[in-house]
Amino acid sequence: MRIDKNAPIGVFDSGIGGLTVAREIMRNLPSEKIVYFGDTARVPYGSKSRDTIIRYSRQIIRFLLSQEVKAIVIACNTASSFALDTVRKEFDLPILGVIDAGAIVAASATHNQRIGVIGTEGTISSRIHERFLKQLDPGLQVFGKACPLFCPLVEEGWLHDEITTHVAERYLSELKGKEIDTLILGCTHYPLIRSTIGAVMGEKVTLVNPAYETALELRDMLNKMNLTCEGEMQEDFPYRFFVSDLAEKFTEFANSILPYDVSVTQKIDIEKF
Ligand code: DGL
Repeated sequence: MRIDKNAPIGVFDSGIGGLTVAREIMRNLPSEKIVYFGDTARVPYGSKSRDTIIRYSRQIIRFLLSQEVKAIVIACNTASSFALDTVRKEFDLPILGVIDAGAIVAASATHNQRIGVIGTEGTISSRIHERFLKQLDPGLQVFGKACPLFCPLVEEGWLHDEITTHVAERYLSELKGKEIDTLILGCTHYPLIRSTIGAVMGEKVTLVNPAYETALELRDMLNKMNLTCEGEMQEDFPYRFFVSDLAEKFTEFANSILPYDVSVTQKIDIEKF
């Protein structure tokens, strides 16, 4: 298949979490265009089964292909854990997930070989980070903890709220007892409450946000495949946003965290794809 190097990158998540990855792509690959899809009608993904997440991911990839993207970033740990291997075999374009980039950074950041991972129930039960980290270094000890209430708190916009601090204290107390020195934020929503998580874990624990490394991995991949967009960004609307529900709320949130003014978000019927 011939791929147009000036086509946009498709980025998707269950909702707003993937915007933390889109933000890093905007900052680090400024000449690339983006089509973002947030599955706001079907969020959260973290409590759903593997089969459901694979079905959702296939539909979203078919939608993104209809927007003629040249590559896809699954900006969701849950969908990366459950669907990445399957969809890579089924679709004929480069697809990146968010698991490996963060794991590589965590493995090199730890000094005591004890790494924590927080994420959705789906991501933590898949133990994908643990498998990947142990491939990098079999001596690593990995401690996972699902934090299912973090996503709704972020989606609600309670980023700096005492309720979020209480929830974080309760979830993270178990990990604090494990003497980890590195913690992977294994859900793309969590960087938005990074300061709360950091305050609870204490300054001796390094927090790893895989979004930045995923953007760098994307840049390397595009370079290697000769798919980097040529020239300066010329478009008036280089970033386009789509959701499956509640476009206004999404737009408001996107504007609060992106270095870009989102004027419209289009709602689409994802079940048609
Ligand atoms: N942000 C997503 C992740 O990285 C999913 C959150 C959810 O929908 O449960 O796993």
